[in-house]
Amino acid sequence: MEKITSLAKRRGFVFQSSEIYGDQNGAWDYGPLGIELKNRIAGAWWKEMTQLHDNIVGLDAAILMHPRTWEASGHVENFTDPLVDCKKCKSRFRADMIPEENLSAKKCPDCAGELTDTRKFNLMFKSNIGPAEDTASIIYLRPETAQGIYVNYKNIIQSNRMKIPFGIAQIGKAFRNEIVTKNFIFRTCEFEQMEMQYFVKPGTDEIEFNEWKKQRWAYYEKLGVKMDHLRWHQHGPDELAHYAKDAYDIQYLFPMGWRELEGVHNRTDYDLGRHSEYSGKDMQYIDQDNNNERYTPYIIETSAGLTRNVLMILCDAYDEEKVADKGDADDIRTVLRFHPNLAPITVAVLPLMKKDGLAEMAQDIRKELQEDYATDYDQAGAIGRRYRRQDEAGTPFCVTVDYQSKEDGTVTLRFRDSMEQIRVPKAELAMKLRQEIKGYKRIK
Ligand code: GAP
Repeated sequence: MEKITSLAKRRGFVFQSSEIYGDQNGAWDYGPLGIELKNRIAGAWWKEMTQLHDNIVGLDAAILMHPRTWEASGHVENFTDPLVDCKKCKSRFRADMIPEENLSAKKCPDCAGELTDTRKFNLMFKSNIGPAEDTASIIYLRPETAQGIYVNYKNIIQSNRMKIPFGIAQIGKAFRNEIVTKNFIFRTCEFEQMEMQYFVKPGTDEIEFNEWKKQRWAYYEKLGVKMDHLRWHQHGPDELAHYAKDAYDIQYLFPMGWRELEGVHNRTDYDLGRHSEYSGKDMQYIDQDNNNERYTPYIIETSAGLTRNVLMILCDAYDEEKVADKGDADDIRTVLRFHPNLAPITVAVLPLMKKDGLAEMAQDIRKELQEDYATDYDQAGAIGRRYRRQDEAGTPFCVTVDYQSKEDGTVTLRFRDSMEQIRVPKAELAMKLRQEIKGYKRIK
């Protein structure tokens, strides 16, 4: 993880927030390569959910919601972690994350000082809206995007004539006052989620739940993720959220071990039932194709962390490889083996030399490719070093313009994964890249 964190900073993927003031715990900034990667992961998910499903539509709800939302959802009452403090060193721990013997002996795992009793700590960030700081002005930063979907479910049925079963997808920020924020961007106080809520008829929920489990698994396969680094984990009775009938996590084998990447939850009719009760509005679905049958839909939720997916994709892509370059058998190259659809830069154009018109020719090629691909241009330093820089950024293709290019109009296309180089006519480059991306298979 240290190597990935350091590469992420060095190459401009992720920076610690407010670094010049000594870091803001639990918050991170996405640099030029990081924002491109994050956008592509979000784009792949959005395409999968909306473009490839006729009955799923998108939404972008506000982060600030009426505070009754969070009473109805159960978050005010139940969204807590058990917390203990050390009276001596003032460290704070999640009681369920320290060894049982420390908890029962009330002994700090860091300094052996005395621990406080366990108390419930609500993870929602609370603030006030408007000029007065009284209970009437309390507002929360949303701890999940899901509730914005539930409160809009009737609006979307009416405006878009949706019929059950149908889904609503949303990507957006969520905030949690996490007690423990470590492992880089794995668990943070400010993060992004990609959530889809699928509204189904009660009684069909178990079939739909299994169907979504299959679809979410197939999605990661399509992204080119190492499938032996993914597994299912079913929530036991003590793990199930207050709203869930059944829940499975897709876990990924991160450098610190198996951890949750995404959850698939059967939330029953809990959410709509509670919003109906707290708002006084009828949240039932009227099935006009079935004698106006009325029922409160069940909800199957797929909930993935976007920022956690960024970490997963970075870990999954990271590779160090011994290459016998220039006779140095111990030469190690660091390479990010992103799927070309996710890579922040798809193709880098490199003139072998700056002089003799090679730079101009390379810049022209870049301009042509720019319409269809995320490109980079680099003319600084030895060509081998430039390839290595692109390998570290995860750029799947490099195009090199050399003296032969001037003579016969061909360029070198170099592949990141195999380091193989072939010659391609300049005019066929865009098409060749399209074919390579479509047929991409990860080799390592
Ligand atoms: N709406 C359901 C829900 O929010 P969750 O299991 O609490 O369920 C869903 O969160 C996903 O959001 C997780 O699988 C994880 O990927 C991501 N996530 C949750 N808390 C996070 C945090 N503090 N930092 C980064 N990602 C987080």
